[in-house]
Amino acid sequence: IPSGPLQITFPLLMSVGTAVIGSLQFGYNTGVINAPQKIIENFINETYRDRYQEPISESFLTAIWSISVSIFSVGGIFGSFSVGFFVNRLGRRNSMLIANILAFIAAALMGFSKMASSWEMLIIGRFVVGLYSGLSTGFVPMYVGEVSPTALRGALGTLHQLGIVIGILIAQIFGLEMIMGNAEFWPLLLGFLFIPSVIQSILLPLCPESPRFLLINKNEENKAKTVLKKLRGATDVSSDMQEMKEESRQMMREKKVTILELFRSPLYRQPIIIAIILQLSQQLSGINAVFYYSTRIFEKARVPQPVYATIGAGVVNTAFTVVSLFVVERAGRRTLHLLGLMGMAVSAVLMTIALALLEKLEWMSYLSIVAIFAFVAFFEMGPGPIPWFIVAELFSQGPRPSAIAVAGFSNWTANFIVALSFQYIERVCGPYVFVIFTILLLFFFIFTYFKVPETRGRTFDDIAAGFRQTAGGGAEKHSPEELNSLGADSQL
Ligand SMILES: *[C@@H]1O[C@H](CO)[C@@H](O)[C@H](O)[C@H]1NC(C)=O
Repeated sequence: IPSGPLQITFPLLMSVGTAVIGSLQFGYNTGVINAPQKIIENFINETYRDRYQEPISESFLTAIWSISVSIFSVGGIFGSFSVGFFVNRLGRRNSMLIANILAFIAAALMGFSKMASSWEMLIIGRFVVGLYSGLSTGFVPMYVGEVSPTALRGALGTLHQLGIVIGILIAQIFGLEMIMGNAEFWPLLLGFLFIPSVIQSILLPLCPESPRFLLINKNEENKAKTVLKKLRGATDVSSDMQEMKEESRQMMREKKVTILELFRSPLYRQPIIIAIILQLSQQLSGINAVFYYSTRIFEKARVPQPVYATIGAGVVNTAFTVVSLFVVERAGRRTLHLLGLMGMAVSAVLMTIALALLEKLEWMSYLSIVAIFAFVAFFEMGPGPIPWFIVAELFSQGPRPSAIAVAGFSNWTANFIVALSFQYIERVCGPYVFVIFTILLLFFFIFTYFKVPETRGRTFDDIAAGFRQTAGGGAEKHSPEELNSLGADSQL
């Protein structure tokens, strides 16, 4: 049997490939309601007329649609908070398997909403698929990280991110009028998530449980060894076993920090505020205004084929995700985040100019395409991947699970706010809607410039010492040894 540290075996590929179907599903459901907005609005309009024998008011229609889009994030909030409950009881693989029940329920609710003449089913379905997505975004990276060998963990971990953007792209293509984005087939478009879930449900039982879960949560050393041998295609897996044991010992040494303690302890307060604001910078940058509403934005900008421009944005998104996968590991996180925020702010200004001058200059609709593409590209260079990187790097093992839960909550909440309010704000601000994002982006740029430390290649103690120095205003001088011992004490 060939063996080596970089051995990519069939069981490993199969496990990772099957898991990232969950990432695809999340991306798909983020992008899917973009293109068919008008068609589904017509359905709501007609259904209302049939049911109540009177025309629907524009504000009621906007409300129903905004809720259908945004309730996905409410499901996401609940889902992301329940991840820990499932993974530690049922295991990683079985959690993913069971989550598919939610996907089936959601597919049925959304797929049959037209037949049942019920927009309520559409809304509940979007909530359920949000639950599923919130769970998936926790399950998938964890499982992929735990089945991968250390040397491949980073590379395989990025497949989650890639799965999401490819999912968005697939949804945009399927949403073309000639495929499923039409009055007849939109229920299939929304119910399509049924198919990947069937595939995943068939394949998951053939994939192994995470060896880390077997060893550390279940204390089943032999089972963990058997799984590792299969995954690595090697007979000697002692170094992997050793590494997991060492990791678990380290975890026991460091006390778990609760969410409340994160905010109470002066040691964690500043890093957690940074973690939250970075998550807000991702969502309030306006990126999901583009992923949820770009077709409508392009229509407003009088782009001749708005759906194709939306697909173009999906292609740019995927391409730059790949680019950033290579850059992120090498470049400083802070630098990339600053670059991304500034690039997005400039793109938002261009977008505003394009929309404002549309009446006078026809070619401005092309500028709007360039602006949106640049907006998406800069997002994937900075605000897309960086906030998650920094959260993981700001906190050591003890506080990390709580910090990630808080970060996830902030992320989904901000996602919800943008999804719900974008149409209303757009109505009030007209072409100047992107000015709001510009202002927010500049605020986040300034915040990052003054408050966010570079985390790449630094130890937790080193980063913590930096925070204590800024908190003390430089008045108190501590030697590095003192600071290190302070850090060690407070972690006990
Ligand atoms: C609902 O549909 C009717 C008929 O197609 C249309 O005249 C009306 O403007 C629509 N209502 C809204 C709020 O879009």
